[in-house]
Amino acid sequence: MSDDATPAFTIRAQEPADAAAAAALVGRIGVVEGTLQIPDMPISSRLDYQQRIDPRDCKLVAMTAAGEMIGLAGLHSVQPSLRRNHVRLLAIAVAPQWQGRGVGRQLMLRLIDWADRWAGVLRIELNVHADNTSAIALYRSLGFAEEGRHRAYALKDGRYMDGLSMARLHPSPPQLGG
Ligand SMILES: CC(C)(COP(=O)(O)OP(=O)(O)OC[C@H]1O[C@@H](n2cnc3c(N)ncnc32)[C@H](O)[C@@H]1OP(=O)(O)O)[C@@H](O)C(=O)NCCC(=O)NCCS
Repeated sequence: MSDDATPAFTIRAQEPADAAAAAALVGRIGVVEGTLQIPDMPISSRLDYQQRIDPRDCKLVAMTAAGEMIGLAGLHSVQPSLRRNHVRLLAIAVAPQWQGRGVGRQLMLRLIDWADRWAGVLRIELNVHADNTSAIALYRSLGFAEEGRHRAYALKDGRYMDGLSMARLHPSPPQLGG
């Protein structure tokens, strides 16, 4: 997407070579608060995870033309159980100076397309801090519904924050022979 106010960015699959940039992005102040990351942890502590490729997952990055990573998002398999094959857990982060400029929405739309049309995913679930109004608004606008509230879900900047469980079910799953 591009207009005068918003320079172009592209979305592509995350490669192992992106691991250092991805690990740095999710550790940034302005991102950490909305996640379960901890500030002042070395980038190297997250490299292993960021390098991993799992064929059941979709991991995307948003890049500027100059090659800067400005966002990332993923759908991750939740358990090694066949009975949860239809479920993926969503995670997303956009660089602070790029938040509110449409990057998160574009990443989400690409993930939902992958889930709905290519991977047989029927349920996308996530947890979000109850005070993360922009993230909750984004999820609601894309068909996610609240399923429950976890009291004192996670420690955030000196206090225990409630968490919301949200999920989106495939609105029209592909049918055999259709
Ligand atoms: C949550 C996050 C991923 C959203 O990405 P983003 O690029 O900032 O979101 P977008 O610009 O695409 O906005 C999408 C929607 O979010 C909502 N939104 C964005 N900024 C908002 C704000 N300041 N207040 C309220 N709603 C807001 C709007 O509904 C917006 O819809 P619109 O496109 O119709 O305007 C991003 O802010 C982020 O990375 N935050 C830190 C990490 C985090 O909280 N991750 C989520 C963990 S569950």
